Amino acid sequence: LPSCLVAALLALSIITPLHAQESQPILIRFAHVVADDTPKGKGALLFKQLAEERLAGKVRVEVYPNSTRYGDADEMQALLNGQVELLAPSLSKFDRYTKQLQVFDLPFLFDDAEAVKRFGKREKSQELLRSMTSHGITGLAYWSNGLKQLSANRALRLPKDAQGLKFRIQNSAVLESQFESIGAQAVRLAFGQMFKGLESGEVQGAENPWSNIVSQKVDTVQSHIIESNHGVLHYMLITNTSFWHSLPYAIRSELDNIILEVTHVVNAEAEALNARDRQKVLAAGRVKVIDLSDAEREAWRQAMLPVWKRYEDEIGTDVIRAALAVNR
Ligand code: LMR
Repeated sequence: LPSCLVAALLALSIITPLHAQESQPILIRFAHVVADDTPKGKGALLFKQLAEERLAGKVRVEVYPNSTRYGDADEMQALLNGQVELLAPSLSKFDRYTKQLQVFDLPFLFDDAEAVKRFGKREKSQELLRSMTSHGITGLAYWSNGLKQLSANRALRLPKDAQGLKFRIQNSAVLESQFESIGAQAVRLAFGQMFKGLESGEVQGAENPWSNIVSQKVDTVQSHIIESNHGVLHYMLITNTSFWHSLPYAIRSELDNIILEVTHVVNAEAEALNARDRQKVLAAGRVKVIDLSDAEREAWRQAMLPVWKRYEDEIGTDVIRAALAVNR
């Protein structure tokens, strides 16, 4: 056969299946564990809206909120198995895959939510987006939620008040150590089990940002919320590495742009959403909100600080130093 004919046939055989594929939109399933009206929940819906607008006919997005399809126990496996394409677990939920991200769990590390946002833009944290690629997981962005507040079925003003209480924690060794450092017990419970755990008394305390306190009705099953701001709960938007690389280039780069835009919106609005939800708790008046004095807050900080030393080697002093550098 003349070589130009061979080339033409080859081109046809490559192009035809691509055309056939293009008629079928690519399905992107995004599972998460929180309610729609939270920073992450809104981010997932905005991603769906923009992707389906700008890549109409090419991409279809399904969002599964509230652990409806996958929850803490099985969502990572579902991502690796190709049953879901996007997740945004809290940064506390990755210690099986990388120890470096544990930096976000160190108590009293960041001055405020703004500092955490600044860290998300630094070179070191951008590097950490790729820290799980050997497991087939690619980080796409950091999404903010907010600072965590302690809650319990009694008033807590000083660390000793928490002694003997059982606190629900996310699946994180650092958070376990944090509660041990104040003489309390930590119980790992999936987010979807938290309300029941508190309601039944299996656990008597928890730590959540205001958005999760409100959306999970924590204030209906706790008597006190302590404005401790002792740690952060932020997220990493992640995908399955081979799925992401299998996307046609034009689609992937448009999705990258959309993610940049959604990330900007989520990170700009998270603090206001948490402030709104704090007001809701105060207005509902079901729970006593304790405002710690500087001296009281310092006592919690001192009690929890030894956790840093314990995890320093695992996390890496370079990572801790980079995180500390964002405080003003
Ligand atoms: C938790 O388990 O407390 C959080 O990670 C839930 C979430 O995604 O905000």
